[in-house]
Amino acid sequence: MSGTPVFNARGLAKTYQMGEVEVHALRQVDLDLHAGEFVVILGPSGSGKSTLLNILGGLDAPTAGTVQFRDHVLTDADEKALTQYRREHVGFVFQFYNLIPSLTAYENVALVTSLATETHGTTPADPAAVLKLVGLEARMDSFPAQLSGGEQQRVAIARAVAKRPDVLLCDEPTGALDVETGKLVLKALRDANREFGTLTVVITHNATVASMADRILKLRDGQIISDERNESPADPESLVW
Ligand SMILES: Nc1ncnc2c1ncn2[C@@H]1O[C@H](COP(=O)(O)OP(=O)(O)OP(=O)(O)O)[C@@H](O)[C@H]1O
Ligand SMILES: [Mg+2]
Repeated sequence: MSGTPVFNARGLAKTYQMGEVEVHALRQVDLDLHAGEFVVILGPSGSGKSTLLNILGGLDAPTAGTVQFRDHVLTDADEKALTQYRREHVGFVFQFYNLIPSLTAYENVALVTSLATETHGTTPADPAAVLKLVGLEARMDSFPAQLSGGEQQRVAIARAVAKRPDVLLCDEPTGALDVETGKLVLKALRDANREFGTLTVVITHNATVASMADRILKLRDGQIISDERNESPADPESLVW
């Protein structure tokens, strides 16, 4: 893929000192990620997937190496600049949905879009339109406790994409869901990626889920052991696992 990457990471390492023992969560990771890509990171438990995602999202810092987001060197940024980076450029989706229980689905999304307008003057998406995109047009006035896990996760996706981030980082977004519900969530992610062209990075343990990506990165023991382009990504609804 040509053009300036959104992320350019070089020589990333993350080492934890556990008493006498050093844990190498990442070692010598070089990676370019481009606008519009739908990337899946696949790897066994402990291979460094979350560590890599958290470093890209400015939630964690590497022990060595650099990460550049467009013109910004994240690894030189202070906490204030990282907070601003996360707020303006990154959407996060985690395994558990972290919705505000006292707000409806619509209000959970609208809260984020109103903050985005106030703090950095971007033009966020219309909350109703994004909720429709993730298939929840009939549930906009429901509270989180009235929604299934998959529906709550789709609200979380709507909330993350509504502020129109440059990158959407998802750590095991289907980890707590059954297969059928997981597919709806993956479809919501794929539709949002196509609609807005947002660079989307999804962590999974599941090789079948990976088949819907444009690009599949495999991690093992803190290293990228393969980086493959997928010319014919599967339709999330057709996945069988
Ligand atoms: N705060 C920490 N202190 C010490 N070791 C850590 C810490 N966070 C992560 N690690 C270690 O770093 C390695 C990579 O962890 P990471 O969470 O990135 O793996 P993962 O691929 O996301 O695994 P999983 O699929 O189980 O979520 C593991 O060996 C883990 O034990
Ligand atoms: Mg993890």
